Amino acid sequence: MQPAVIAPSILSADFARLGQEVDTVLASGADWVHFDVMDNHYVPNLTIGPLVCDALRKHGVTAPIDVHLMVEPVDRIVPDFARAGASLISFHPEASRHVHRTIQLIKAEGCQAGLVLNPATPVEVLDYVLEELDLVLLMSVNPGFGGQAFIPSTLDKLRRVRERIGASGKPIRLEIDGGVKPDNIGAIAAAGADTFVAGSAIFGQPDYAEVIARMRNEIDAVSR
Ligand code: DX5
Ligand code: ZN
Repeated sequence: MQPAVIAPSILSADFARLGQEVDTVLASGADWVHFDVMDNHYVPNLTIGPLVCDALRKHGVTAPIDVHLMVEPVDRIVPDFARAGASLISFHPEASRHVHRTIQLIKAEGCQAGLVLNPATPVEVLDYVLEELDLVLLMSVNPGFGGQAFIPSTLDKLRRVRERIGASGKPIRLEIDGGVKPDNIGAIAAAGADTFVAGSAIFGQPDYAEVIARMRNEIDAVSR
């Protein structure tokens, strides 16, 4: 398995001080910046777009920016995010009419491509496209809001997707998003995740470094 990645979701950061929040969380041991894009159409919430991604790059953020698109349609906005400095772009298959085409578009724009499965989306959606992907993101809450509880059936789903990734022989990351906390991250890692999004669990605490270290200890305890 690849080294664990911790990707704090800036959805729970203080947007009035976003640059500083991102600097602090990266200095506290985070690996990636998870960037949640919501359009009040595919999901019932509205967040941030390419302008903010570009602003973070101009602010000096060099860490990978992991863009999670919860927008419909998808293709129109992909080149804008590539230009704005996105490293990875993930999207929901329900939001794209031609999933394979969207994956190719993301890669042609020079980004890594991810597919996101909602809690009720079957793993079979990965048939025929898994090998094209750099990342599979499993939602362990319904998309749209931070601070929701982890849906336990996602653990079994993680195991099933981990098996498929293993069979593909490709270095595809398996990311989990929603309700991840220090007290469940060990079980999530044991089920096969190697990339961990956490919003409220990190930004809701005064000491980001302390939470991230606790998360890493729990992950390491499993992989040992
Ligand atoms: C939800 C977003 C998540 C969210 C996770 O739609 O995709 O990235 O920020 O928040 P927590 O970690 O608080 O569940
Ligand atoms: Zn997300």
